[in-house]
Amino acid sequence: MNSELNLYFDNAATSWPKPEPVYGAAERCLRGSWGNPGRSGHTRTLEADRLVYRARETLARFFHIADPGRIVFALNATDALNMAIKGLLEAGDHVLYTAMDHNSVLRPLGGLRRAGLISTTMIPCSPEGYPDLDFMERSFQRRTRLLVINHASNVLGTILPLKEMATAAHRHGVAVLVDASQSAGAVPVDLAAAPVDMLAFTGHKGLLGPPGTGGLYVRPGLDLKPWREGGTGSHSEMDLHPETMPERLEAGTLNSPGLAGLIEGIKFIEETGLDKIRAHEVTLRKRLRRKLEEIKGVTVYGPADDDRCTAVLSFTLEGVDCGELGYILESSFGIICRTGLHCAPLAHQAAGTFPQGTVRLSPGYFTSDKDVDYLAGAVAEISAFTRAR
Ligand code: ALA
Repeated sequence: MNSELNLYFDNAATSWPKPEPVYGAAERCLRGSWGNPGRSGHTRTLEADRLVYRARETLARFFHIADPGRIVFALNATDALNMAIKGLLEAGDHVLYTAMDHNSVLRPLGGLRRAGLISTTMIPCSPEGYPDLDFMERSFQRRTRLLVINHASNVLGTILPLKEMATAAHRHGVAVLVDASQSAGAVPVDLAAAPVDMLAFTGHKGLLGPPGTGGLYVRPGLDLKPWREGGTGSHSEMDLHPETMPERLEAGTLNSPGLAGLIEGIKFIEETGLDKIRAHEVTLRKRLRRKLEEIKGVTVYGPADDDRCTAVLSFTLEGVDCGELGYILESSFGIICRTGLHCAPLAHQAAGTFPQGTVRLSPGYFTSDKDVDYLAGAVAEISAFTRAR
């Protein structure tokens, strides 16, 4: 037993540790008295302006987006998803989404539906998290305006067939919004290879940046209604928000220290190689699953094919409430993970783990085989103790 350890298995909530340059860049930006990007023309503001542009360019390169000006910064993926959903939909529209969606999609859609503005259809998923594509094909309606695709499940790790779903939506003239919260930085997200109209991402998970960073890509020709208006540093004489991108969807001071860190997070991924990061994370998931499956009373959820998953694995232990299990793991073994429903109740319904939830383990690039073995040993000890009681 070693409760002094700090073994972090919650990278799907927020990644830790960050690569060293991420901390340094954010601190330099804060200490360097950089100005407010886009406001005024003094040297410090121009420095901050260049940083923001570099962040847009870095993200555009990473996601294979031709025009960095189509990337809008937001607080996180939830903020970006709200911006997309509320900026696109009109009264009478119909929306398709899947059972893998997070509350950051389910709640904005639920609010619009309850207000009588839109109708929705949920595409059911298998217990492993794969969507029923025949059901999806039958569900496109004349008024369907949007398909939301959760690229990777935050509960099961399942990678959804993005290209196939997006292509089907476009065949029906339906816009595609991708939630890349769990996939960006974990698997390739190549917008040159899939027909995507909007992509929401966050900076603090797989992209290894600080919290408070994220954004939305909006394809050229698609104009969203702004859902927040205010100062942009441009067209200050107008009493209406500018229509040009990216200001159209950005108002108020941007998080420049966060963006400085995010640039370094992405640079780390590019320099290390996404392939190498992915290979390590797949190996960790395989090892984790194999070791957990050997323990009496453990049920592991999600696809058995680790090559089709991100490094996210959910499990339960017979006879132990998952909240209690998470508490024991941290207090007695120093292992940090997330338990419960993970803000994704429909994914748990699909997996058969609603309402009790699961213990979710999400190792990252900095997790070692030794960490996995220690975790499996801890679960085995708890299992043996529980069965002896
Ligand atoms: N959505 C994040 C998670 O899955 C916070 O934990």
